[in-house]
Amino acid sequence: MRLIRVVISSLVVAILLSASFALAQDVQPIKIGVAVAQTSNVALFGQEQVIGAKIAEAYFNEKGGVNGRPIQLVFQDTAGDEAGAINAFQTLIADTVVGIVGPTLSQQAFAADPMAEQAGVPVLAPSNTAKGIPEVGNFIARVSAPVAVVAPNAVRAALNLDPNIKDVVVFYAQNDAFASSETTTFQSTVTNLGLNLASVQTFQTTDTDFSAQITNALALNPQLVIVSGLAADGGNLIRQLREFGYTGVIVGGNGLNTANVFPVCQQFCDGIIIAQAYSPAAESEINQTFRELYKAEQGKEPPQFSAQAFSAVQVFVEALIRLDNITKLDTLDLATQRNLLNLSVLAGGYETPLGMLSFTPTGEIVQEQFYVAQIKMNADGQTGTFEYIQ
Ligand code: ALA
Repeated sequence: MRLIRVVISSLVVAILLSASFALAQDVQPIKIGVAVAQTSNVALFGQEQVIGAKIAEAYFNEKGGVNGRPIQLVFQDTAGDEAGAINAFQTLIADTVVGIVGPTLSQQAFAADPMAEQAGVPVLAPSNTAKGIPEVGNFIARVSAPVAVVAPNAVRAALNLDPNIKDVVVFYAQNDAFASSETTTFQSTVTNLGLNLASVQTFQTTDTDFSAQITNALALNPQLVIVSGLAADGGNLIRQLREFGYTGVIVGGNGLNTANVFPVCQQFCDGIIIAQAYSPAAESEINQTFRELYKAEQGKEPPQFSAQAFSAVQVFVEALIRLDNITKLDTLDLATQRNLLNLSVLAGGYETPLGMLSFTPTGEIVQEQFYVAQIKMNADGQTGTFEYIQ
């Protein structure tokens, strides 16, 4: 009798298990593409983006995904150039992703976003800050606040720190769309604040020797130098600027906004002032949750690039939930899902680690809060922190 009972209960368990497995198999994940730089110098940003996106994937799936359907991030490495971004976008578009988070650089976005626009796939740019990104098309929006609203904060903070600043030299990477865009904001900010724009020096993101431009700049005795480049070239430029004896204030643009620049400029990173679109100290529940998850994994405070990638995934998830509440996603074909998701993204408001976000009808981010941080290097000259000064 006892044996029969054991056999029956084992059978019941087996039947229940296979039924729930069949159910689990029926629940197809919703695929979201992530096209960022996992290789090349641009991976100095992309690595931070992958971490932020993966934390979001785990967190939102833990919360039930999209009304019970999990999301699945599909990663495609864009590497550092336009061709890599185009390839990654084309692969994801041909896959069944409902939307794409990416690419890393504005320079890549201007080349790859038109593919998504043509295919009707919504794109959320996690780090493209050049002027004109959302205007590429109806399906292109960004969670990365543009240079025009972020960059001036750093110049004002520099002036607060050193009111004697009068003469300014600006450097920028002229082969990069973001750096070329950011420098126009920096230059007009300098002029608007009544400072003297003593010189504008140009370089390439592939340069490693900046001695000619630095010699030109230092001949003018500036009290402030502003650098718009990417992490590798910008970091090297700043290291050489200090090695040539410059002791004044340095403002770095968004391309220097990563701890991955520390091994490049080493002890000379110390003191660089950089505007921020994110603060780990922001008090919202979602930010403190993100911060704890990031710290548990990485053992340090989360950087802006990770927070923006998390926020991009969050916006897609919440827009998908809103859409699914109105019309079940699995009753729609892929083209319709993509189309309606784009409308849902633009229609929503989102409480993210970056603060409350929404979008203009063209897909430009509406964000309320910005900050400024200063790099503080440790004695080892390899590690350091971003200390918030505003
Ligand atoms: N903010 C940089 C860009 O837009 C990374 O290219």
